[in-house]
Amino acid sequence: MGDLRVGIIGLGHVGAHVLYTIALQGLSDDFVLVDLDDNKEKVIAERQDVLDATEFLPHRVNIKIGSIEDLKDRDVIVNAVGNIAALRGTNTRLSEMEFNMNAIQTYAKRLKDSGFNGILINISNPCDVITKWLADFLDLPAGHVLGTGTGLDTARLKWRLQDSTGVSSHSITAYMMGEHGSAQITPWSQVSFNGLSLEEAAKTDERFRFDKDAIEQGAREGGWITFNGKFCTEYAIALTAARLVRIVKYDEKEIIPVSTKLDGEYGEKGLFAGVPALIGKNGVEKVIELPLTDTEKEKFHACCEGIRANIEESKKFLR
Ligand SMILES: NC(=O)c1ccc[n+]([C@@H]2O[C@H](COP(=O)([O-])OP(=O)(O)OC[C@H]3O[C@@H](n4cnc5c(N)ncnc54)[C@H](O)[C@@H]3O)[C@@H](O)[C@H]2O)c1
Repeated sequence: MGDLRVGIIGLGHVGAHVLYTIALQGLSDDFVLVDLDDNKEKVIAERQDVLDATEFLPHRVNIKIGSIEDLKDRDVIVNAVGNIAALRGTNTRLSEMEFNMNAIQTYAKRLKDSGFNGILINISNPCDVITKWLADFLDLPAGHVLGTGTGLDTARLKWRLQDSTGVSSHSITAYMMGEHGSAQITPWSQVSFNGLSLEEAAKTDERFRFDKDAIEQGAREGGWITFNGKFCTEYAIALTAARLVRIVKYDEKEIIPVSTKLDGEYGEKGLFAGVPALIGKNGVEKVIELPLTDTEKEKFHACCEGIRANIEESKKFLR
């Protein structure tokens, strides 16, 4: 894909950083920004701040502030609407469910009717639930709607593994799977360092005999360290989304964890959950089924049951 046309819905902490990160990485020169009318001054400010950085960007960018209908020709849309203040003092991403269920229903049909036929990457929480509904409402070809899911949590896990062992995160294979929330799991049987399984590595090197539960918990709850100090998270999630944009743009066929529809994989159906998937120009092109142990399969199943319960809960907010 040559000139990738990007749309961003919601220019709060996250959406603004998605804009900045994509511009800084030179992934697109053409943006349409959509937010609520009463947030117009903030969006004008975010646009101007990035335009004023043109001198330092890889190339010039056009940034238009528009409506949902102006997103019809976008190759990729990043959905980052929300009301992050709703999370304060709650320690659960479910606190934004009502707001975000209402928000997406104000524009999903308009976006579908506009003829939008690109890839939609959802960030808004609860990520797996909101991604599922956006996919249902938009009814795009399979794989075109995906969520960042456990992509950010996996980055949190890999940083902790690097910090604990000294091995570069780029030479570690590891995934957080399941819910982008407190029920996500680390399948330790799938973790490897420099190509060596964790079990093998631990036999000869004590650096790999770390406290797995503490690291897993750190990855799962790490977002709250950031949130409780600045009442948002923004840099790492913007980079998670930008990586997905880059993979789509260059049809990279990279395997990274995203929230995607399960259709029998891992014995699950009818929900979106975080799993490693092969991503290319068509979004999710294949779900990767890792050979989990029986215990890991049980934990993943329990996590999916939790997502199912959240989907049931979210139906209260359907109009
Ligand atoms: N998936 C992840 O890993 C991850 C990480 C960080 C944040 N998030 C989520 O991303 C979302 C955004 O976070 P934030 O910190 O930027 O929130 P924020 O409250 O700072 O910004 C939300 C923006 O969405 C806009 N908005 C609200 N309703 C809208 C609508 N109907 N149409 C258009 N725009 C609308 C608001 O005006 C605001 O600019 C939240 O749901 C947050 O929980 C997810």
